[in-house]
Amino acid sequence: MKLSTRAQRIEPFYVMEVAKAAQALAREVAGGHDPMVFLNIGEPDFTAPPLVQEAADRAIRAGLSQYTPALGLDALREHISGWYAERFGIDVPARRIVITAGASAALQLACLALIDAGDEILMPDPSYPCNRHFVTAAQGEAVLIPTTAEERFQLSAAKVDAAWGARTRGVLLASPSNPTGTSIAPAELRRIHEVVQARGGLTIIDEIYLGLSYDAAYGQTALAIDDHVISINSFSKYFNMTGWRLGWMVVPDALVPAVERLAQNLFICASTIAQHAALACFAPESIAEYERRRLEFKARRDYFIPALNQLGLTVPVMPDGAFYAWADCTQAAEKLGVQGSWDFAYALMQRAHLAITPGRDFGTAETARYVRFSTANSMAQLQESVARLARILG
Ligand SMILES: Cc1ncc(COP(=O)(O)O)c(C=O)c1O
Repeated sequence: MKLSTRAQRIEPFYVMEVAKAAQALAREVAGGHDPMVFLNIGEPDFTAPPLVQEAADRAIRAGLSQYTPALGLDALREHISGWYAERFGIDVPARRIVITAGASAALQLACLALIDAGDEILMPDPSYPCNRHFVTAAQGEAVLIPTTAEERFQLSAAKVDAAWGARTRGVLLASPSNPTGTSIAPAELRRIHEVVQARGGLTIIDEIYLGLSYDAAYGQTALAIDDHVISINSFSKYFNMTGWRLGWMVVPDALVPAVERLAQNLFICASTIAQHAALACFAPESIAEYERRRLEFKARRDYFIPALNQLGLTVPVMPDGAFYAWADCTQAAEKLGVQGSWDFAYALMQRAHLAITPGRDFGTAETARYVRFSTANSMAQLQESVARLARILG
């Protein structure tokens, strides 16, 4: 069967391939001394809190299962607007908030609404692989710009300015980032946006991990800069609802009708049950629970990153958000007699029954040196992982 050029240009999501191999090995070693520990998974180990589960249950029983408007339930858009006011002290009117099937659908809508064939979008290397594939699926070109630890693995205004070419249409950033957990400093982000605006371009920023920020110096939304920023967000990470497939984006007023038309045609609406359930995310009791969990994620970071550093798996920048550690495995790989992050990840899987993610998916610049650990696992499992790493690397 002849595939479209578009489909052929989408690379495999290697994280998933590694996860499949880890699952297969987990079945083999189940019941043994060292069952597999999964630090490769990019989703919270928590589930939706009780009020959200009850709200979903009530919605199902009340038969609230018809389509909603394409832009989402007005009540949910209002709640999200209230969340921006309370948490970030900014006014984001509900009319600019579009409810989507996860950040993934929001990114697709943004790319399809704004990118024409051949348009170039600048992104940092490393970055979340699907983001560049959304650009590719819209027939654009993702241009990955290598970043350094000194830059917190993020783009700077100077780099955006230098890389801007005749076909550049904008930037797609993520702050905090997957796989590094690092954010762009607010002043730098403002400068980037100024460079982009001066060129008449687009600033799209994936803020899916913004709720999971641990450092007040970084945990501000780019929406505070001005109304032209397009911000992507989700109920997946802070709100612990990955499989519910619910997210949102905030767009400039002028973009709402085009996004609405696309959403009507491509998705009709996001899951109605999930939308009704998500209303309960903003109840004070749920927010209190989410905040308790955020602090648990922070405690895990504070334990795990220094432990990795001590083991020679150097994390050059302390993550200020999300639940990832981007670690240089050069020295550790040498100790195991392997070369590169791909072989190192497989060696850990086989010799320590520890599943992690090699850098490969996230770009090309230095991804053979780096691996991603996810700390979205219990403290006990993180301690077990450190003990196993010490055993084979010590
Ligand atoms: C940076 C980033 N953006 C987007 C997504 C997609 O999230 P969602 O579940 O909301 O579609 C992920 C998922 O891991 C992510 O890490």
